[in-house]
Parts: sequence; structure tokens; C-alpha cells
Amino acid sequence: MDVDFDKESGIGPSDPKGKLTAEEKALLGDIQGNILKSHGRDHSRHLFITFDTTKAKEAKAWLAQLSKTKVTSALKQWDDSRVRAEIFEKSKKEEDPEAYLSVELPKKPSGIFINVMLSAKGYDALGLSGKKPTDGIFGGGAAGAVSRLSDPPRKDWEAPFKAELHALVIIADDDPGKVAAEAKAITDSLKGGKVVNTEIGRALRRGKNGPVHEHFGFVDGVSDPLFFAKDIPKSSKQWNPGAPLKLALAKDPGGHAKTGYGSFLVYRKLEQNVDQFNQDRHELAKVLAKEDNRTEPNHADRELAGAYLVGRFPDGFPVSEKATPDGADREIPNNFNFSTDTDGLKCPFQAHIRKTNPRGDTTKLGGTLKQERTHRISRRAISYEQKGKVGLLFLCVQSNIEHQFEFMQSAWANAPEFVQPKPPTGLDPVVGQGKVVKQQWPAKYGSDKKVPLSLKQSVHMKGGEYFFMPSMGFLKGV
Ligand code: HEM
Repeated sequence: MDVDFDKESGIGPSDPKGKLTAEEKALLGDIQGNILKSHGRDHSRHLFITFDTTKAKEAKAWLAQLSKTKVTSALKQWDDSRVRAEIFEKSKKEEDPEAYLSVELPKKPSGIFINVMLSAKGYDALGLSGKKPTDGIFGGGAAGAVSRLSDPPRKDWEAPFKAELHALVIIADDDPGKVAAEAKAITDSLKGGKVVNTEIGRALRRGKNGPVHEHFGFVDGVSDPLFFAKDIPKSSKQWNPGAPLKLALAKDPGGHAKTGYGSFLVYRKLEQNVDQFNQDRHELAKVLAKEDNRTEPNHADRELAGAYLVGRFPDGFPVSEKATPDGADREIPNNFNFSTDTDGLKCPFQAHIRKTNPRGDTTKLGGTLKQERTHRISRRAISYEQKGKVGLLFLCVQSNIEHQFEFMQSAWANAPEFVQPKPPTGLDPVVGQGKVVKQQWPAKYGSDKKVPLSLKQSVHMKGGEYFFMPSMGFLKGV
């Protein structure tokens, strides 16, 4: 039986120790890893390549060789993940609840992870225009999206992103030394092109194996669509994270008729101005303190103000569920929606997670939850630090960039009238771009008195590109 691309209950066995079907194996063997599930490694290097169009033959031979020997398929990722899962399970059984934070992962848990992908111009440079996926806006790349997304003009991007970027190789491992050595080996092997830029990613963790957080200090990577049955929680009545394969996989025109699928990857270098974010949080905390007849904000005001901006407290606990961070729970809740907070009195409409995943809010606008869920993206981001600046190398995969990432950024995060036109919701305080309008914030948690305050932008886009992660079959035979 063919693999079902429409079902939301996930593929593969629901028992983590169960087996894949032959069809699932064939599909996972032909698609790259990191699409249906994050590779989960803490260190990465992103090599941006420009090909020499007069040497397309050499470049293609290099790409095929790299794919045959190094690129990680989803099937290899599946097999390797067993090792990691066993270690994690073992660590969770320890009596000390904090023990899992200090469990040593073996030196080489699953080996180095490698992805490769092409931009639309990359397909052209290799003489492969006929095999290019036909997503409407892929051809224009990130540069073509500037006005749609209210991005800074390309002339203001960091210099390496102003170059014509043809391919991206992602190298990841838990050992940064191994990542650097592999990056050097791949760069040295490259024929018919040049590595024109390298971005270095490093996951920030609480404790050795604790949850990942981003530079503003909030746990990240909690809520993502889940594609494997074994990962989808059985009771997820308020929010079902399960997702059909068609949310992430698009037909690869150059791939195998049955199993040839790839995914579109949006790459954005997003610089985070931590001082500005803290200033915004402080201004909001001051307003909350004033409403409580205090002159100076206290710790609780600051925590709540941060949670109003993100929609979760720094420890990941959703503000729609509680006025204070939980602290005690190890499992960060994701089974919630905003049906008991329809006026945005606990989690403001503009909070980052409510703007980017309204969890049913759009039904008020006449849409359906089913339709809303088709805009979901799968985030594969990692933090960076560079020359005193910090930020997020924001990567997300999807089957249609226009319908998913671009829609989320422009029609939700950047749209002051989403999800409420009057008074306007305003921009997403984390990633919104465009005209700033005054926003309304709950004066007290859960109260219907709202106070106005507008904030400054603390995340700035520094450059990016759109890529397609082709099928293994296409890459090996290129
Ligand atoms: C969730 C931070 C950029 C879309 C989150 C969370 C944090 C966060 C802390 C909550 C944890 C979680 O649910 O995983 C950031 C920061 C960014 C950034 C600091 C930039 C520097 C973006 C962009 C988009 C985006 C550009 C898309 C336009 C999402 C989505 C979720 C999320 C879809 C999950 C919401 C949910 O399902 O509840 N982000 N983010 N983020 N973010 Fe971002």
C-alpha cells in the first residue's frame, strides 16, 4: 500500500520499537533527513556555494558524489535516532529528576549529519532548469520576497547574502570540532564552485541535555508539526501536533516517480537585539506595575511581560494556561488552544506563538481550523553568535513557501489587523515587520482592562535565500 500523504496520525509504527513498512522505508530512503524531524545536533555549519556556470559538469559530479557518500537520508536518521532515544529513555528512568540534564551522551551518538539543497538559480547554473520544482515564488528567491515580507532592502543585507547563492550544505554534529573538520573536507572536495559564505550555528541549552533556548532566553523548538506516529501524543484534544506528509513534502520533478519528494527550505539570518527586547519587556513590565499601583516593576511583572511578548514564559510554559511560570514540569505543555481566552486577556493576540500558530483563532474570521493548520511550518533553526552580534539562523521546511512561511510572516506576524482589526492587534513583537501601531495589553492577567503600548523591533533580517532539498535519487544521479 502506498504511503498516505494526507493522514494526520503520522507515519511509521506508533510503538517506538516497531518497524516501518516496506513502502515507508522506500520513501524515507529517498528523502533527506531533517525534513520530517529535526536532526537535533547542537552544532552546525552552513556552507553557501556559488557554482561556476562554465564548470557545471564538474559541479554536478561533485554534488552526486557528495550525495552518494555523505548526505543523510530520512531512513538513516530514523535508524540513528533509535540510539539517541534509548539513551534518553534510560536517562529519564534515573531517580533524580534532574539526572537527565547531566547524562553523558556517547561521543558519537549518531554521527555527522549532512543536508544539501539548491536555490532556483542553482538549478539554472547547473543546467537543470527543467528539473526545478515549480512553486510559484521559488524562482524569485528571498530577494524577490522583500516587499511581500516588509524585509529590509537587499542592499542592506550582509554582504555574503547579496551574492548569487546556488547551493547550501548543512553539516551538523554534537562535536563542533567534527563539524569544522567535515566542513573543511567538503570545501576542499568542491569542484566547479566556491564556498562564498559559512554561517556557524550553536544550540543554547539549559544544562547539558536540557531544553534549547534562544538568545532572548526563552525555550525554543517546543511546538512543531510531528510526522511520525510514535512521536504524536495520544491525548492531544486541545491541540493536535500531528501533521500529514503533504505539509512538508513536495514532488521533486527530477526524482523517482513514486518516492521522489523534497521540501522547500526558507533560510533567514535574524539578528536579535537583546537589549532592545529587554527594554521592550521592561516598558511593558512598568505598565503592569503601574496598574497594580507600584512604582517599580518586580520579578513577576517582568516574567509576565516577557510571556506576553512570546506567549510562553522563558521555561516554555504557555501564558494562556497560567499567570506565572511553572518551573516544576519537565514536559513543556503543547496541548492547549486559546478557546478559553477568546478576548486575548491571558495570552495577547499579538504574542509570537499566537500570531504564528493561532490554534483556532481564525475560525472567528470565518475560516476553519483545518484550513488554518495548512499554514504550519516545521522549524529547523539554530542560534548564532558572530562578532558580538547574536541571533537565530531561522530555517523552516514546507511544501509551499507562499502558502506557509510567507503567509505566516506577511498575513499573520506583519499584519496589524490580524487576528483582530479593531482595536488592531498590531505586529508580532518578536518577528513582526512593518508599520508599528499601538497595541493593547491586558492590564492584569485575565482582566478585560487593556493598556496601550507600542514596542520597537528587536529582530532584524540580515539576509536569506530559498532552497529546495531534492530527493536522494535525483541528487545521486544528477
Ligand atoms: C515558536 C522564538 C522567529 C514561527 C517560538 C517560540 C519561541 C520563538 C521562544 C516558543 C517555543 C516553541 O513553541 O517552539 C523566536 C525567535 C525568532 C523567531 C527569537 C527570531 C529571532 C520566527 C519566525 C517565524 C516563527 C521568523 C515564522 C514567521 C514560530 C512558530 C512557532 C514559534 C510557528 C510555534 C508556535 C506554536 O505552535 O505554538 N518562536 N522565533 N518564529 N515560532 Fe518563533
